[in-house]
Amino acid sequence: MAKSTTERLDADNAGVSRAAAILRAGGLVALPTETVYGLGADAGNDLAVARVFEAKGRPRFNPLIVHVASAEAARRIAGFNVDADNLADAFWPGPLTLVLPLVPGAGIAPLVTAGLDTVAIRVPSQPLAQALLAAFGRPVAAPSANRSGRLSPTSAEHVLDGLGGRIEAVLDGGPCPVGIESTIVGLVDAPRILRPGGLPAEIIEECLGHPLLLPAAGAVLSAPGQLASHYAPDAPLRLNATSTESGETLLGFGPVAADLNLSPSGDLVEAAANLFGHLRELDRRGVVRIAVSPIPDRGLGRAINDRLSRAAAPRV
Ligand code: TXA
Ligand code: MG
Repeated sequence: MAKSTTERLDADNAGVSRAAAILRAGGLVALPTETVYGLGADAGNDLAVARVFEAKGRPRFNPLIVHVASAEAARRIAGFNVDADNLADAFWPGPLTLVLPLVPGAGIAPLVTAGLDTVAIRVPSQPLAQALLAAFGRPVAAPSANRSGRLSPTSAEHVLDGLGGRIEAVLDGGPCPVGIESTIVGLVDAPRILRPGGLPAEIIEECLGHPLLLPAAGAVLSAPGQLASHYAPDAPLRLNATSTESGETLLGFGPVAADLNLSPSGDLVEAAANLFGHLRELDRRGVVRIAVSPIPDRGLGRAINDRLSRAAAPRV
């Protein structure tokens, strides 16, 4: 539901309430943070999150950062350990993202984490971001508010240049003081630096009392911020299946008789929203082999096909 005109909301109570109302309705609002502008959506709404990928024209489903108002709110979503407690105490609110185990049943849409059991979470310090998170009262998923492959925006003008007409609104908080994305630290096994960013690694290491490790082998790839270890279902996948063979369960797309359908009406946004949840559901059912209907390779279909072909690739 990208609109043809994007509202520019002022940095006042009316602007914040309007932004919260748009998020509640499943719309997209670009919001200022101290690092860069984020493209915000209700983190509990898979369809809203799918629209984020569509608006950005992102060809891959990278997991997104969840933004919350306080460390207390973060603890309802992510499992904290001692290092996480220390880093949150020292650096939140601020330009630090922590990757932690996802609390099951926390209400985070599977598309936000790309189906992973971990979640990237941060508490931004920018006052308008804080005000919006308080007014909305729920976690907000937000990648940088730029078209895929373009520079991250540090002003409302930058956001409108890239995404004007593709999102409901931008909350104008002026220029971003830090201007580069948050530093991402993974705390799932040992503390690792997953992306250098607005908070220097040295300061984080000083707080932890030891050096940060590099990302685990195989966990990070070619392009920064691109993960190999996305969720893959237990059962093998066969793509572009126009019929099923014996022993296969059909994950359908469009008007086909399927065991589970990504979008009976052939809507790519709906299919993206359902992708990771449906793959998990097939695992839960203990299916042996999955056949997947052909998905058109345009718009979000490219990201869906990217994800499915990785899941179908031979496993090591
Ligand atoms: O400063 C920032 O971090 C900005 C503002 C808007 O908060 N956001 C941002 O989001 O840069 P984005 O989507 O461009 O970066 C998200 C990156 C992913 O590409 C991935 O590298 C990492 O965060 N990430 C997210 N979830 C992860 C997870 N569960 N495990 C490992 N890395 C994860
Ligand atoms: Mg980005």
